[in-house]
Amino acid sequence: MLVLGLNMFHADASAALVQDGEVVFAIAEERLNRVKHYGGIPALAVQACLNSVGATIADIDHVAVGRDSDAHLIKKAQYALLNPTKILNLIQIRKRREAMDDLRALLARPLQADPQRMRFHQHNVEHHIAHIASAFYCSGWEKAAGFSYDGSGDFVTTMLARCEGTDIEILERVFVPHSLGSFYTMICDFIGYRKYGDEGKVMGLAPYGTDAYYEQICDMMSPNGRTFKLNLAYFMPLGSTQGMQINEDGTVALARHYSPKMVGLFGQPREPSGEITQRDMDLAFAMQKRFEEIFFHLLDRLHRQVPCDDLAMAGGCALNSVANGKIFNQTPFRRTWIQPAAGDEGLAVGAALYAYHAILKQPRQYVLKDPYLGPEFSDARIRQALDSAALKYRRLEREPLLEQVADKIAAGQVVGWFQGRMEWGPRALGNRSILAHPGLPNMKDILNARIKRREWFRPFAPSILADRQDEYFEHAHPSPFMLHVYKIRPDKRRQLCAVNHVDDTGRLQSVTRQENPIYYELIQAFQRRTGVPALLNTSFNENEPIVCTPEDAIDCFCRTKMDVLAIGPFLAVKAEDP
Ligand SMILES: [Fe+2]
Repeated sequence: MLVLGLNMFHADASAALVQDGEVVFAIAEERLNRVKHYGGIPALAVQACLNSVGATIADIDHVAVGRDSDAHLIKKAQYALLNPTKILNLIQIRKRREAMDDLRALLARPLQADPQRMRFHQHNVEHHIAHIASAFYCSGWEKAAGFSYDGSGDFVTTMLARCEGTDIEILERVFVPHSLGSFYTMICDFIGYRKYGDEGKVMGLAPYGTDAYYEQICDMMSPNGRTFKLNLAYFMPLGSTQGMQINEDGTVALARHYSPKMVGLFGQPREPSGEITQRDMDLAFAMQKRFEEIFFHLLDRLHRQVPCDDLAMAGGCALNSVANGKIFNQTPFRRTWIQPAAGDEGLAVGAALYAYHAILKQPRQYVLKDPYLGPEFSDARIRQALDSAALKYRRLEREPLLEQVADKIAAGQVVGWFQGRMEWGPRALGNRSILAHPGLPNMKDILNARIKRREWFRPFAPSILADRQDEYFEHAHPSPFMLHVYKIRPDKRRQLCAVNHVDDTGRLQSVTRQENPIYYELIQAFQRRTGVPALLNTSFNENEPIVCTPEDAIDCFCRTKMDVLAIGPFLAVKAEDP
């Protein structure tokens, strides 16, 4: 049975293919059309899914969309009546709903397929149910507490659930406008981070601040019985989309989130090009602190209703790795399984698995063992791309390749590392990565000056051998998808100085041999030279979606000042280099 999962007409459009209950392929459209956070129809992603198993759209049995515009219609209508300027917004959502009704017609043109030959059944899965499904059904756990939170989706911002077997029982929903995601985005917007997806940057700024504004920030969001509420005086009325607009060309824009009350309290907002002041850092600090408090309040309530050790989690806010790293100290949960594509691209996987298990009543067997669900490329294709770019390269066996790359990283060089299938989700996890020495004090500046050009305050992250994690970090709970930030132990901070953030933390990736053998062996080879069982790992890109194809990687390599490119079995340098 083939089930195609889709996230469409929403930021981070994506497609995933589930074959007999196993996720065999998943990819966000942005990686293929190179438009960051693309929010239209994921036509290239669908085609890539089909190609991966040699199928056509006519072979698909079920299509599951991570969106149910019919959900909570009464709530939406009530909200629109209270906010008359947002009635237009509601009409647009209905139009999209009608377009989705004819999914065959929508897919036919970009796939050049005959809609008459498509025989799939369509399932619309509510946004947050798809998020929770994307975590729980991939976890392999028989039972867990399910949690999802983000800006909003299908008029809901937060969902608590009891997950058992193939059932996801919803315990609580928090509706628009009360949203942890909107709270975070509002303050990011005020301090000059106005693009969709900028929240992760501000998370890195927070530890530079103080709690000077903590009391004012607490007035913006507070616990409310089992859930929480926003003080709407600080927010613009955002409508049922919580201020997210998908443009005709599929790009995503955010409406202004902060109200004049914010300006009255804190002065003029920072322009994106303006200098970051202590005020901005202090706001970021208090925002992260309040976010965590409400998050732990919700998890505490969830644990009372579902008393177990295991938490399955997704939703855009589940990418807040700082909050995730504190779960074990601040809540009764002992294990987490967080979907690597916790943001909205993950809806494609969640909707497909929900259709398979909860709607079609198929039993569970699948466990997501690694995040490498994207495309891979043959050696011949890579060689062709290298030849076209006139790069100098050598083909090496695995062992010499690892030894030479480890030598170069140990000597302070910056290496583009392109191997195997592309990662699913926003993190580079050792298959589309730029790698460097984590223990050189100037490495952060080198990377920023030569390649990444990121804000000075953003930390780089380490990949560490999972069996050595406990020696270096204060928590041994694995973080295979780089979704937890832990304190680095005091005696190891010098060894990891390029990935040690200002508050002595690191957003680590725990690497096992089972998940990624070649990457594990590369870190081992580096360890033999330096004594450090970790590498600095940043995504293979330069202000663009992470590279997908060999051509994308070679283009990025040539545009930037990376030293070496290890791509498949080939080790390449630029033509002018010796
Ligand atoms: Fe979402």
